[in-house]
Amino acid sequence: METKNIFSESGIIITMLLIAIPIIAASILVMIKAKAVLKKYLKKKELEKFNEYLKGLSPDEIEKLEQRKREHEFSLSNLELSGDKEPIDCKGLIDNISEVETLRFVEQKKKSQPRPYIEPDLSKLILWYLGCATFWLLFGTTVGEYLGIKFVAPDVDQYSWLSFGRLRPVHTNAVFWGWASLAMMGLAYYVIPRVSNVPIASIKTGYRSLVLINVSVILGSIFLMAGINNGGGEYREYIWPVMALFGIGIIISLQNFFKTIAKRTTKEIYVSNWYIISAMMFLLVIAIIAYWPSWQNGLGETIIQGYYMHQGVGMWFMLFNLGLMYYFLPQQLNKPIYSYSLGILAFWAQILFYTLIGTHHFIFSAIPWWLQTVAIIGSAGMIIPVVAGTTNFLLTFKGSWNKLSGSYTLPFYLIGILFYFTGSLQGTAEAFRFTNLVWHFTDFTVAHSHLTMYGIICFMLWGFIYTVVPRITGKEPPQITVGAHFWLALIGLLFYTFPLMYGSTLRGLMWMEGTKSFIESVELMAPYWLWRAIGGSLMWFSHVLFAYNFYVMVRKKDEIEIPKSPIDILRAKQEVDKQTITN
Ligand code: HEM
Ligand code: HEM
Repeated sequence: METKNIFSESGIIITMLLIAIPIIAASILVMIKAKAVLKKYLKKKELEKFNEYLKGLSPDEIEKLEQRKREHEFSLSNLELSGDKEPIDCKGLIDNISEVETLRFVEQKKKSQPRPYIEPDLSKLILWYLGCATFWLLFGTTVGEYLGIKFVAPDVDQYSWLSFGRLRPVHTNAVFWGWASLAMMGLAYYVIPRVSNVPIASIKTGYRSLVLINVSVILGSIFLMAGINNGGGEYREYIWPVMALFGIGIIISLQNFFKTIAKRTTKEIYVSNWYIISAMMFLLVIAIIAYWPSWQNGLGETIIQGYYMHQGVGMWFMLFNLGLMYYFLPQQLNKPIYSYSLGILAFWAQILFYTLIGTHHFIFSAIPWWLQTVAIIGSAGMIIPVVAGTTNFLLTFKGSWNKLSGSYTLPFYLIGILFYFTGSLQGTAEAFRFTNLVWHFTDFTVAHSHLTMYGIICFMLWGFIYTVVPRITGKEPPQITVGAHFWLALIGLLFYTFPLMYGSTLRGLMWMEGTKSFIESVELMAPYWLWRAIGGSLMWFSHVLFAYNFYVMVRKKDEIEIPKSPIDILRAKQEVDKQTITN
C-alpha cells in the first residue's frame, strides 16, 4: 500500500488537535509561570537598589520618617461613639461565622446538603447496589492490574485459570456488568422516584434484580476462569444462561421503573428518565441480538459483534450516565440545566448516529465497503450529540465555576464531561480509514477504551456516588482520601493511556512500513506497557481508597460529636437536664 503523508489525514489532524488542547493549556501555564519568575527577578533588582538607598539615609531623613510613622500609627480608641458594654446580636443578624480551630492543610470543602426524606427501605436498597458495585470494581480492577503486570512479566504464573486469555474477559465483564452496571442501577433507584415525585413501585423487585445481576457476574467469572465461554465475541463471553440472568434482572427493574414513572405526579417526564429508560431498553435489544442463535456464524456474526460492542458502550453505559448527569449536575450547582431542548437534541442525535456505527470496529474487513462507510459517517455524525451534550453541561457550569474549588464531588463531574468530549472525538478520529489502518490492531484501542469507560463512566459514577451516599447516610467521606482517590485515578489514567497511544502509533507505522519483524514491534512496546502497569497500579490504589471512603460513608458506628453551635449546646443541655430528672 502506498504510504501517504499522514499529516493530511483527517483522523490524524483531529488527534493532533485533541493533543494540542492540553499542550496549549500547558504552554499558557508555562508562560504565566515564566512571567511570574521574571517579575520576581525585576523586584529583586529593585529591592537591591532600595537597600542601597536605605544605607545612605541621613539622620534628618530618618527623623522625618519616624514622625510620619507616629502620625500613621495614631488611632482612635474605638470607644468614642459607644459605651463599654458587651456587643450582642439580639436579632441574630450575624450568622455562619467560620472559626478556624485546627491547622488546615487543605481547603475545607462544602458538606453535602441535607435532602428531603428518602424512605429507609429504598435507601438500604440503593446502598446495597452501590456496595456490590464497589466490590466488583475492586475485584475487576485487581484482575486488570494483574493483566497489566502480565504484559511486563508474562511468565508470572502457569495456571490455566489465571491465563491471560481467560482473565481478560473476567476483567472486562466484571467491570462492565458488576461495577458500572450495578452502580448505574443503584443510582437510577435514587433518581427515578425523585424526578417522578412518587415512591418506587416495588422495593422487593429491586432486590430480586440485584441478586440476579450479582449471581450472573459470579457465575460468569467462575465459568470464564474454568474456560467455559461463548467463543470469541468480545464482552459477550458469558454463556447465554448466565447472560439471561443478567437480562432478567434488567427486565424486572425496567418494569419497576415503568410503573413508577406511570404513577408520576409531575406533568413532564424529566429528561433523565428518557435517557435511563431508553438505555435499559436498548441493552435488552442489543443482548438479544448478540445472543440470537441463528446469528452466531459467518460474516453476519462479525457485523453483529460490531453492533453489540458499540451499542453496549454507547447506548447502555453512555446513555444511562448522561441521564444521571442531567439530574445530578443541575442539582449540585443549584440551578436548572442550561438547555432542556439541547438535551433532547443530543438524545435523538445519539440514537440516530450511535446505532449506525458498529461496523467501524471492522474497517477493511470482508464486511461490505458501503456498510463500513455508513459506520464512518455515523462516527463523524456523533460530533453533534457529543458537542451538544458537552456544551449543555459546560454552560450549566457557567457562572458557578467558583463552586468547583469548594466541592469534592464537582471535580469528578467535570473530568467525566471533559473526557466525554475528548474520548468520544478520539473515537471519531479512530474511525477514519487511514487512522484505523495505523491503530486498529494496536493498543491504541485499549487506550481509547480506558479513556472512555474509565475517564467518562467511572469518573461520573464516582461523582454521583459521593453525592448520593452522604445524603442517605448523613456521613461524609474524609476529604483527604476523596482528594487522593481523584488525583491517583486521574494521574494513573494519564500514565496508562498516553504512553500506550504514543507507542501504538509507532508500532502501527512500523507495521505499515513492513521492513521489521513482528517481534521487533513487541519489543518496541515494552516501555509503554511498563508505563501502563505503573498507571494501572495508581488507578488500582485509588479504588482501594474509594472502597474505604464508601465504607466510612455507610458504616454504622456513631461518631461522638461535641456540640459547638449555640443551638446544639442548648439542645444538649436540655437532653442532659431531662436525663437528670428521670434518673
Ligand atoms: C463519538 C463517539 C465514539 C466513536 C466515534 C468511537 C469510535 C470507536 C472506534 C472506531 C473504535 C474501534 C477501534 C478499532 O478497533 O480499530 C472504538 C472502540 C471502543 N470504544 Fe469507542 N468511540 C466513541 C465513544 C465511545 C464511548 C463513549 C465509549 C465508552 C463509554 C467507547 C468505548 C469503546 C470501547 C470499549 C472500544 C473497544 C472495543 C473493542 O474491544 O474492540 N467509545 N471506538
Ligand atoms: C486498575 C485499573 C485497570 C487496569 C490496570 C486495567 C487493565 C486492563 C488490561 C491490562 C486490559 C487488557 C488489554 C489488552 O488486551 O491488551 C484491559 C482491557 C480492558 N479494560 Fe481495563 N483496566 C482497569 C480498569 C478498567 C475499568 C474500570 C474499566 C471499565 C469500567 C475497564 C475496561 C476495559 C475494557 C473495555 C478493556 C478491553 C479493551 C479493548 O479491547 O480495547 N478497565 N484492562
